[in-house]
Amino acid sequence: MAVTSLGYVRLNSPDIAAWRRFGEDFMGMMRVDGNDPDSLYFRLDEYPARIVVTPAAEPSLGALGFEVMHARDLAAVVRDVEAEGIKVTAGTAPECAERRVTGFARFDDPAGNAVELFYGPILDHVLINTPLVSGFVTGDMGLGHVIVSAEDVPTAFDFYERVLGFVERNTAGPTYFMGCNPRHHSFGLAPKPGPGSMLHLMVEMASIDDVGRALDRAGELEVPMMNTLGKHTNDQMLSFYVYSPELYAVECGWEGLRVETAVPTYGITEGALWGHKFTPPPR
Ligand SMILES: [Fe+2]
Repeated sequence: MAVTSLGYVRLNSPDIAAWRRFGEDFMGMMRVDGNDPDSLYFRLDEYPARIVVTPAAEPSLGALGFEVMHARDLAAVVRDVEAEGIKVTAGTAPECAERRVTGFARFDDPAGNAVELFYGPILDHVLINTPLVSGFVTGDMGLGHVIVSAEDVPTAFDFYERVLGFVERNTAGPTYFMGCNPRHHSFGLAPKPGPGSMLHLMVEMASIDDVGRALDRAGELEVPMMNTLGKHTNDQMLSFYVYSPELYAVECGWEGLRVETAVPTYGITEGALWGHKFTPPPR
């Protein structure tokens, strides 16, 4: 019983118009209609919307959607989470319908990040159509990866490893990178004072040309650059980073490492083999 993938990310944003442009015109995701006419729904593949952005006064993480195998595993993981003294709430039928999942339950992790465990995505058989990107790499590796903050990283890491079943891939000083499928890391925790918050989202594109064209679009659309093109030391991803409308670090990557067998954890002293030169946020 463990999380099998990062299935979806829900974000609350004060600037839906900016996200529409960012998600559709820059990232090249397929925008589709959903149950809430005010929210943005972006597909990457046959799964229901992988990224959902809902209007809100302040930017925040709505939820990390982690997938489990089926109803029985959901019930088992929920019991384990409750045994930690964490309050878990079952998703209602309308909430399941809006997410297009068969069932889910929500709780806050020990750092205060909103988590939803779900099973049974209702697949969309309307062919994915992303004219700007030849494809997104998902499948058995899920949506991509996210990094959130925790004031107390060791306590949050213990919860994700011991209770949700994540595997430690590597550390970078106080930051932990964790896997739950062949993707090198689906999830990470970085220290930051205050309640847990969204820091970073990565989507993987099918070809190096997709990343190059996304880099061109960032320039044309004046999406602020965060890290120049570079290659990571841990997941070997070739990528660049921009700032989202809320100044999250959004990474467009290619050819990240698949970790097929158990590999001992390790520490890294540099984030990049080359490139990834940093530019501070625009405001
Ligand atoms: Fe990343």
